[in-house]
Amino acid sequence: MLLHFIDGLYIIAGVLFILSLAGLSKQTTARLGNIAGMIGMVLALLATITHSVAMSAGMSSDGSWLPVSEIHRQSPLITLGLIVAVLAIGAAIGTPVARKVEMTQMPELIAAFHSFVGMAAVLVGFNSFAAPEGAVDSVHMVEVALGVLIGAYTFTGSVIAYLKLSAKMSSKPLVLPGRNLLNLFGFVLFFALMIWFVVAGASNPVLGWTLIIAIAVIGFALGLHMVAAIGGGDMPVVVSMLNSYSGWAAAAAGFMLDNSLLIITGSLVGSSGAILSYIMCRAMNRSFISVILGGFGSDGTPVTAGETDYGEHREIDAAGAADMLWNAKSVIITPGYGMAVAKAQYPVADLTTKLRAHGVNVRFGVHPVAGRLPGHMNVLLAEANVPYDIVLEMDEINDDFDDTDVVLVIGANDTVNPSALDDPNSPIAGMPVLEVWKAADVIVFKRSMATGYAGVQNPLFFKENTQMLFGDAKQRVEDIIHALG
Ligand code: TAP
Repeated sequence: MLLHFIDGLYIIAGVLFILSLAGLSKQTTARLGNIAGMIGMVLALLATITHSVAMSAGMSSDGSWLPVSEIHRQSPLITLGLIVAVLAIGAAIGTPVARKVEMTQMPELIAAFHSFVGMAAVLVGFNSFAAPEGAVDSVHMVEVALGVLIGAYTFTGSVIAYLKLSAKMSSKPLVLPGRNLLNLFGFVLFFALMIWFVVAGASNPVLGWTLIIAIAVIGFALGLHMVAAIGGGDMPVVVSMLNSYSGWAAAAAGFMLDNSLLIITGSLVGSSGAILSYIMCRAMNRSFISVILGGFGSDGTPVTAGETDYGEHREIDAAGAADMLWNAKSVIITPGYGMAVAKAQYPVADLTTKLRAHGVNVRFGVHPVAGRLPGHMNVLLAEANVPYDIVLEMDEINDDFDDTDVVLVIGANDTVNPSALDDPNSPIAGMPVLEVWKAADVIVFKRSMATGYAGVQNPLFFKENTQMLFGDAKQRVEDIIHALG
């Protein structure tokens, strides 16, 4: 009866997680999606804690209860106490970190968190080999070997990604001679050891432990080597990929623990992380296969800015920009990483309200990789209460620039760079971009002529119809609002 109740909670939690992902795919339903995820997580925790305590109290895996004389497990109170203590330690560390982290530091925080998931999968694998839940057959042994390998890879890979993203380690790709052969050798060795482990590991514990520890070492080494070989520029894609691996590691742990919820959740994280990485690769014009194979096919040389002289740029002041906006019929705002740094979304929302009240058609064009994490700009604009229906994706708005009077490029650079389309030798050649230069006038908000994330100069800044408005984006937008009166 209790087991059915627990299984019921697991199923409801699994459905809520699926609804959560569906909700998060649209701005209008994202809040609901978050709430569904939170409720699902509370139910999942309740079910897991009840399950563990009931097992300590003598419930067996088929739901029947052992007679008191046959219970040789630790007291349910100790189990409950241990779980509460572990939850408290996790919450005490996680809560202050999550509260104080800046939105722009989110990728490195996620990388740090994934390293814990990876290590947890390794420990679950070891535990599951030492004290298996069900039958010890070949399938179980494969699950243990795969869980340990993926977990170990995710652990060291995530630590390296965290160090690179937080600039605690050089973001340059590490290029060892014969690195692809080294990786291939690592995988071949893993398969050989896994087969040995499956065939002889269970009957000979000393050999079994030696093999599973060797598999963990291969996983640690592969994670370290393959992620170190990827440059800092691709690191956010790698974080998303490691997110996917942590999901597969959790699913493997679910098989080992015979826990259906962990299998469902792990598969959801695994597949959504892989899809997200693919979308990011496409939007940044990176090869998905090359990124997951640790920079395979690239020679590791970092891209450098070209030396082309594009001529002189023109400047405008806030009063001039205000004048231009007041006389415009249609305005498109393309935000980028600089808007996040300046926290300019609030005055940008105020300016939008003012212009719309004056009858100007104001819309936003959001590039899929503007900022530093997927959906970065959408979250900031939603936070500042910009109406969802005027925030359009790149594909929805790219044909409208021709008929637009003024484009405000607020802290965006690479995502509005025409050389992605015009210059086949550009490091960002082929990356789809917002074609802002097709508008009658373009005003670019930034502090200097410095390059953006990709380190390439932007010919947009030197076009006839472009004017630069230098300074902190928040300050300059406030100046425009002030000038509008
Ligand atoms: P970027 O190309 O990164 O350029 C941002 C610009 O903002 C800079 O040129 C900078 O110029 C300006 N800026 C910084 N602080 C500012 C401030 N306080 N006020 C005004 N301007 C400021 O931006 P983007 O167009 O959003 O492109 C994103 C880049 O990140 C792309 O290359 C993309 O591939 C990459 N990337 C994105 C993601 C995701 S998933 N979003 C993940 C990884 C990498 P100044 O220094 O002169 O002010």
